[in-house]
Amino acid sequence: MSFDRRVFEAKGYLVVPGFVDLHTHLREPGFEDSETIETGRRAALRGGFTTICAMPNTEPAVDSPGLLKELIGRGHDVGGARVLFVAAITRGRKGRELADMVELAQAGAVAFSDDGSPVEDARLFRSALEYARASGRPIIEHAQDLALSAKGVMHEGSVSARLGLPGMPAAAEEAAVARDLALARLAGARLHLTHLSTAGSVELVRHAKADGESVTCDVTPHHLAMTDEWVAGSRAFAWEGEDRAPRGVPYDSSTKVNPPLRTRADVRALWAGLEDRTVDAIATDHAPHSSVKKDVEFDQAAFGISGLESALALVLGGVRAGWAPLETVIDALTTGPARALGIDRPEGDWVVIDRDAEWMPRADELASKGKNTPLIGRTLIGRVVATVVAGEVRYEGVVGVAEAISRR
Ligand code: DOR
Repeated sequence: MSFDRRVFEAKGYLVVPGFVDLHTHLREPGFEDSETIETGRRAALRGGFTTICAMPNTEPAVDSPGLLKELIGRGHDVGGARVLFVAAITRGRKGRELADMVELAQAGAVAFSDDGSPVEDARLFRSALEYARASGRPIIEHAQDLALSAKGVMHEGSVSARLGLPGMPAAAEEAAVARDLALARLAGARLHLTHLSTAGSVELVRHAKADGESVTCDVTPHHLAMTDEWVAGSRAFAWEGEDRAPRGVPYDSSTKVNPPLRTRADVRALWAGLEDRTVDAIATDHAPHSSVKKDVEFDQAAFGISGLESALALVLGGVRAGWAPLETVIDALTTGPARALGIDRPEGDWVVIDRDAEWMPRADELASKGKNTPLIGRTLIGRVVATVVAGEVRYEGVVGVAEAISRR
């Protein structure tokens, strides 16, 4: 199938390479009431993602070549986005002993991560980095000092004090980032730091890159658009004034995410990091949860935001506000993540975007089983019109677009 670019240009659509998501939770096996490979792959297409990397914090965790091969087999069925699998660093993600990393790489793991948790033991993490280097795969690390973040449920600052909720200080992330960078240097390994959320973390990576270190990092669309005020009921994007934005309710568990939504100064620093390429990629950390895990009190609720389907609109909002050029964010959704993984961007993957389309996420219209996003009912601007994987139109959001794509 070939692709008629002129048809879209005439309509004012933007046509860019398919997005690559370094960080997606598909919940299969073990939590299929929250998401399956099938529903996650469909949600990805609607968000413009043609390749997604599934995180291994399933039940059981993806820590054995047998399970990994089984999942790769399931992911091969046609119909959705391409799925790559990240394997666990430690057995059962328990942080006590390493999984068989070399065998997992041979079985097809694209990277290693215990995401959801950091590898707390520094000596074990050093070994993990050495094995990752030997296997030619990056470690995708969730940087968090658990002793410091303790029982925190949101960012520690004036908003948590006002709401009376225990906070996680920015230092809980930054201390872990500093440790991880030091260990990666020691091991001579490729390290990818995922979902960085604070100004201090970005600064640490900036320095490490200036020193020539082999580190890459990503930020999420929600950390690029929302602040800790969202936990208190704000629904103003970081680039908007409160006066013109709608309001939600305080203590809405859909705003509970780890790392937590931070301050406006942190959000600005993430955008500055994108702009000077300290930040390599935008990754969704799509974390769907069933209502039993989310429709509970804030401090009891699971961490996570369902993000695949709204990611593009959030980052286009920042572009519209002049916080980074369009090319920069498209690079961070395409070439940047592929480079961080050490893979070539797949051929024949495209996404067609209507930058001006206004729409409103509705729970019953999301393809993901995870309805846990504070964006339900919020007007967004910018939407995927069609998604093409390996030359095949796999999602068509506007009737007739597929026909236009396949016409020569
Ligand atoms: O908010 C989060 N949810 N952060 C994580 O690190 C894990 C994720 C999940 O698996 O739900």
